[in-house]
Amino acid sequence: MSVLRSVIVGSGSYLPENCVTNDELAKTVDTSDEWIRQRTGIEQRHFAAEGEYTSDLGYNAARAALEHAGIDAQDVDLIICATATPDNTFPATSVEIQNRLGINHGAAFDMQAVCSGFVFALSTADLYIQCGKAKTALVIGAETFSRILDFEDRTTCVLFGDGAGAVVLQAEEGEGNVSDRGILTSHIRSDGRHKDKLFVDGGPSTTKTTGYLRMEGKEVFKHAVGMITDVITDAFEATGVKADDLDWFVPHQANKRIIDASARKLGIPQEKVVVTVNRHGNTSAASIPLALNEAVLDGRIQKGDLVMFEAMGGGFTWGSVLLRW
Ligand code: UT7
Repeated sequence: MSVLRSVIVGSGSYLPENCVTNDELAKTVDTSDEWIRQRTGIEQRHFAAEGEYTSDLGYNAARAALEHAGIDAQDVDLIICATATPDNTFPATSVEIQNRLGINHGAAFDMQAVCSGFVFALSTADLYIQCGKAKTALVIGAETFSRILDFEDRTTCVLFGDGAGAVVLQAEEGEGNVSDRGILTSHIRSDGRHKDKLFVDGGPSTTKTTGYLRMEGKEVFKHAVGMITDVITDAFEATGVKADDLDWFVPHQANKRIIDASARKLGIPQEKVVVTVNRHGNTSAASIPLALNEAVLDGRIQKGDLVMFEAMGGGFTWGSVLLRW
C-alpha cells in the first residue's frame, strides 16, 4: 500500500556564543561543579546575549536546516516552532521566523508542550504531510530558558540552557512498512494532574508578568523514566520494531541519569544513545534537534538508520517519534 511519509531531508542547529561553565555559574550561585555534574551530567550551557531572542536562535537553526537539505525557503508551506519561551506573548515566534525567511505563503504557528514541544511539533507536521495538506515542513525547537530562570533558586537555574534546532520534512511515497524512510509512528501524551510539578509562576492572564520556572525536581524525576519508556513501548507495539533494531536513541536532554535509566530499562546500549546534556544543559524543546544535528553532522546517523526520539516535560507532556533516516 502506498502511503505518504514525512522524511527528514535536512537538519540544523544554533547555540548562542556565550558558554557558561558550572564553575562560572558557581561564582554567583550557591552551587558547585561537582554537585551539578553528579546529579545531572551537565558541565556547561549556552545563554543568549542581551537582545538575542528565541526567533534569532530559531531562524539561524532553520537557515542551517534548509541549507543542509538544499531546499529553497519558498518551498516551505508549513512552519511549526516548538517553544515555551516565545519572543512575545503574541504573535507566534514561528511567524517572525517565517517573515525573516522571506516566506509569506502557507502557515506558521507555535507549539507549546515545553520540553516535549519538538516531539509534539514533529508529530503534528507529520499529520499535515500524511494527509496531503503540506509538502515541505520546517519544524523548529527554539528556547531562551535563561530568561525564565530565577538565579536565586539554585535547584533550577543550574539545569537549563538556550539553543535551537530545526529539521526540514518532505512528503515522499512509501510502501507503508517499517522499511520506509521517514516518520513511522508518533505517540504523544499529556496529564494535567501534574501541572504544578513543573511550571512558570506567571503569565499574561494570571500575573500579567512573565514569571519564573518552578520545579519539584524529585517529583519530575520520579515520573520521567516510566513515562518515557511507556511511549517508546507504544512505538514498538505500533510498528513491531524492537529495541535491538534501533540504530540511534536521541532522547530529550534533561538529565544524564534519566537518559541512562531509560536506555537501561529499554535495553538500548550506551553506544547508541546521543548525549549532549553535558554541553548544552536542558534546552527544553531545542534539545532533541540540537542532539540530532550533532549526530547527523559528525556522521553517526546515516541514511536508512532507525532512530527513536523521546521527550517528557511540564504538564506533564511526553511523547515518542520513531523514524527511518
Ligand atoms: O525536562 C524535564 C524537566 N526536568 C527534569 O527532568 C529534572 C528532573 N529532576 C532532576 O533532574 C533532579 O531532581 C535534580 C537534578 C533537579 C535534583 O537532584 P536531586 O537528587 O533530586 O536533589 P534534591 O532536590 O533532592 O537536592 C539534594 C540536596 C539538597 O540539600 P539537602 O536538603 O539534602 O541539604 C538541595 O538543597 O542538594 C541541594 N541542592 C543543591 N546543592 C548544590 C539543590 N540544588 C543544588 C545546587 N547546588 N544547584
